[in-house]
Amino acid sequence: MCGIVGYFGKNKALPILLEGLERLEYRGYDSAGIVVYCGEKMKSLKSVGRVSSLKEKVIKEDLISGKVGIAHTRWATHGKPSEKNAHPHCDCKRKIWVCHNGIIENYKILKKWLIERGHKFRSETDTEVIPHLIEEYFQGNLENALVKALKKIEGTYAIVAISEKDPNKIVAAKNSSPLIIGIGDKEFIVASDASAILSYTKKVVYLNDKEVAVMNADGIKFLDLFKKSLSKKTHILNWDLSSAQKSGYPHFMLKEIFEQPESIANSLRGRLINKEGITKLGGLDNVRKKMANIKRILISSCGTAFYAGLVGEYLIEEKTGIPVEVDLASEFRYRKPIIDKHTAFLIVSQSGETADSLAALKEAKEKGALTLGIVNTVGSTISRETDAGIYNHAGPEISVASTKAFTSQLSIFILLTLFLARQRQMSLIEGKEIINSLKKIPAKVKQILKNISQIKRIAKKYKKFNNFFFMGRKYNYPVALEGALKLKEISYIHAEGYSAGEMKHGPIALIDKNFPSVFIVTENSVYEKVVSNMEEVKARGGPIIAITNIGNKKLDKIADDVIYVPKTIEILEPILNVVPLQLLAYYIGVMRGRDVDKPRNLAKSVTVE
Ligand code: G6P
Repeated sequence: MCGIVGYFGKNKALPILLEGLERLEYRGYDSAGIVVYCGEKMKSLKSVGRVSSLKEKVIKEDLISGKVGIAHTRWATHGKPSEKNAHPHCDCKRKIWVCHNGIIENYKILKKWLIERGHKFRSETDTEVIPHLIEEYFQGNLENALVKALKKIEGTYAIVAISEKDPNKIVAAKNSSPLIIGIGDKEFIVASDASAILSYTKKVVYLNDKEVAVMNADGIKFLDLFKKSLSKKTHILNWDLSSAQKSGYPHFMLKEIFEQPESIANSLRGRLINKEGITKLGGLDNVRKKMANIKRILISSCGTAFYAGLVGEYLIEEKTGIPVEVDLASEFRYRKPIIDKHTAFLIVSQSGETADSLAALKEAKEKGALTLGIVNTVGSTISRETDAGIYNHAGPEISVASTKAFTSQLSIFILLTLFLARQRQMSLIEGKEIINSLKKIPAKVKQILKNISQIKRIAKKYKKFNNFFFMGRKYNYPVALEGALKLKEISYIHAEGYSAGEMKHGPIALIDKNFPSVFIVTENSVYEKVVSNMEEVKARGGPIIAITNIGNKKLDKIADDVIYVPKTIEILEPILNVVPLQLLAYYIGVMRGRDVDKPRNLAKSVTVE
């Protein structure tokens, strides 16, 4: 997804902007561009593909001297990936330059109006209307013209702009797309993502929707769209740069898989009160009473976070008796969701910026739901827009394919379930039992991670197959869905997740010796049923990989390969059972020569609907 970096200060802008773009690469993009104000002139360069090709071009040019500049990585939405469509975009006279994330919904009308007034457009993008609108309204002051332009715009945006006509300043604005301003010593770095800021400063200001920031040699000021000045708080980022780097692992994905014992422990840290069998969730303090009266929960999310929500549904219904529904966020707003004041609406999102999830949140808010979030990215839009919530504290997840965020989301669902259940009928004894089992989870994940050589061997054996089923029941049904998603995302192999019981209603027609199935068949309340489904696959010659518990030797005759995981209580199984599936997908992806951290066509944070 698109990334923005802007710099104003005492240092050369170019290396700072390029480093910022490199730190944003993980978000997924298809082209990049940069513009620097070099004493009386703007110099810009763009390139399709990786930031490294932009860097090669830049070295040949003399952009070096400027101390003000903006840069962008673009993930195409309006117009194909090309130099002409890459940001920054400019006005007719190439004096006003803009980088933009988001979508200008009324750009067609604005473009037509601007063309009628003589403006010449160079790209197919929605973004280009912004510099032309600024040009239209410019009367010597960049922020005033930007404010006027923003009043014409409908849609979402994070914008940074510079102008040769009002030089030595950078202006920024936001509406529904993230934008953070890092404050250094007489310098400012504006970015769509904290990772581009971290190596310069940890002191940041979060822009809110429809706010504008103006940075120059006198400092920083904030305005609303009525030009009223605003005072804003600074925050200190608690993520360090090393956590945003690979730490010696060949890929971020593997590093993040191996971080899970720690990230799960971080999600639980300080939140378990063993002797009372309850969880302490500071982010829910202000809604504690309302939570006790909730009669229904709607969960909405996308991708991996959606599968975490499905596990949440099983959990919350079983342990609290509260009816739960889970919806894909991209579908939620198009239904006619029934919401009243006793409905809690819960968004699960690693990034806290996913456009579909935000749109669902907005819909639920308008209908009067109590809104809650399970979010990893501190200060993200979803975390700020919800009434209350629980942070994952899983640390930054860089790899596009989500791993540690998922196990952290599952851990948070357990905490939330305990919170709700102990407000209702769950006994002290059961609360304590769950807490005890939960505390052992990080060590058990570590135990699974010791088994990589076996998983590598299995990956080698199965990497040639072009189709896979992943199957499980009950708590392990969403795990099967997530296992299939991981494999297809990073290896580009066709993989489908199914409820094992549903297989006989169609999918079984596909089974033959070339169509392996991965069964999640740990010893729980549905174990025997899943074993029967395995037998059905075996009878039709389908190869089988089984995930079961250490010590269970009964599957050796049915499955071709067995991966063993430690035993835990049924509700915690998904946290353990998904780990070998993540590793299997990772190694098959690597063995097939895929770019596992940045799979084709995918983006880490999908900020368009
Ligand atoms: C994208 C990512 C997925 C992620 C989904 C939801 O599709 O590639 O890994 O699960 O968005 O993202 P969120 O940040 O809302 O959890």
